[in-house]
Amino acid sequence: MLAIYPGSFDPITLGHLDVIERGCRLFEQVVVAVLRNPNKTPLFTVAERMEQIRRSTTHLSNIEVDSFDGLTVTYAKMRRAKALLRGLRVTSDFEMELQMAHTNKTLSEEIETVFLATSTEYSFLSSSLVKEIAKFGGPIDHLVPPPVAPDIYRCYAKTLPVSVPTPDLMPTLEHPKTESLPEMLRDLE
Ligand code: PNS
Repeated sequence: MLAIYPGSFDPITLGHLDVIERGCRLFEQVVVAVLRNPNKTPLFTVAERMEQIRRSTTHLSNIEVDSFDGLTVTYAKMRRAKALLRGLRVTSDFEMELQMAHTNKTLSEEIETVFLATSTEYSFLSSSLVKEIAKFGGPIDHLVPPPVAPDIYRCYAKTLPVSVPTPDLMPTLEHPKTESLPEMLRDLE
């Protein structure tokens, strides 16, 4: 059976990879489908994201990486897929995911949404979180597949924030208090 794993993947995280690997064990073929979304300004182009996914999944044989626009079910029907694969991290995901699954069901009766509970170690992880950490100069190597981390660092390299201490809190190193003994005695008078 063919399953479509649709998403933004901007960029792919270890959480996505976990869902892909487990999906590949359940389904004969998994198509990771990157949405071309004109309403979002992504960090990476669709072509870059597809390449990142490809480089992160070279160990999997039953995977294909593709892109699509429009409705996910239209794409799934075109690919003759029977299932949509989605990861569930926390209960807050559930509401939105269930709404999407129900909506998709109204659009196509024969396509099922299959949810995989994300492995606990990735339950906090999202692409937005990765971007936020990288934007402020933090490490993200433990959050994304190894081939993807350099792309993210490169993206933010030119915009790394320089941490400037608040003037009030800075020690007065430029003008240390260097009173001579006679001056100190005069102050005491
Ligand atoms: O990775 P994301 O951003 O959570 O993925 C969301 C995605 C791409 C699965 C969802 O936005 C989607 O399916 N978009 C295509 C438009 C569509 O089919 N809408 C109807 C279902 S709500």
